[in-house]
Amino acid sequence: MKITIVCGEQEFYSAGAERIAAAIRTNPEAKIGLSTGRTTKGVHAALVKLCEEREIDCSRITVFGIDEITNMPRSCPASCYDLLLNQVVRPLRISEDRFLMPDPEAEDPLKECQEFERRVMENGGPDFIFLGLGENGHLGFNQPGTPFGRTAWLSWMDDSLDERLRRENGIPADVKMGGLTLGIKNLMQCPHLVLAANGSNKADSAAGMIEGPVTEALPASVLQLHPDCEVILDADAAQNLSRGITG
Ligand code: GLP
Repeated sequence: MKITIVCGEQEFYSAGAERIAAAIRTNPEAKIGLSTGRTTKGVHAALVKLCEEREIDCSRITVFGIDEITNMPRSCPASCYDLLLNQVVRPLRISEDRFLMPDPEAEDPLKECQEFERRVMENGGPDFIFLGLGENGHLGFNQPGTPFGRTAWLSWMDDSLDERLRRENGIPADVKMGGLTLGIKNLMQCPHLVLAANGSNKADSAAGMIEGPVTEALPASVLQLHPDCEVILDADAAQNLSRGITG
């Protein structure tokens, strides 16, 4: 696991964007997995700017989201589909047939998990996945306790995320949201992973992920076992590392 600590908000987002741009430069036909959330919103904005400035052609890449909130329409602003469509796909002029997402309202969510996984994993699977970190150490929607051998499945949402999404998006209490997600096994099969985390709310899970035991109680700790994984932290997220902040 390579650890990069970046000081400064824009520098942090730019560092993330540089990694995605490098994956596109390495393979202009790359299949790239992306994550949604507060962290990656800034990374995606920096990526769009960077691709414009350097005239990076994104027309032949395929992108997919690693997870999606189920039981509400794609038009909801909280949906990962809508976020990635507006933050990445449209600004980078990627055609929508190169944008893979599960249907959040599929009648049979388990079948939808299998179909989504099949499309993501076919033709050699993803070349690169950019991950965020849950406050409780989740990866995608793989919550603490998820077996590392999991493939795509319908998980649940932790209470704090569930509460925040409802508050920010006015999602009524009777809508039961779920988390359709690639499994940890799928994520670990990708040859190149980058995870970014910022803010002191991520400090405990970041320290556990990097320095703690590899345990299903902290899903992101599995990344210690990946042969090519870089973790980018800002100073706040890095504050609990025993090795100190050196970046
Ligand atoms: C969400 C998403 C993850 C994301 C994580 C971090 O639950 N399912 O894919 O990486 O939380 O989000 P944020 O950056 O908003 O903290």
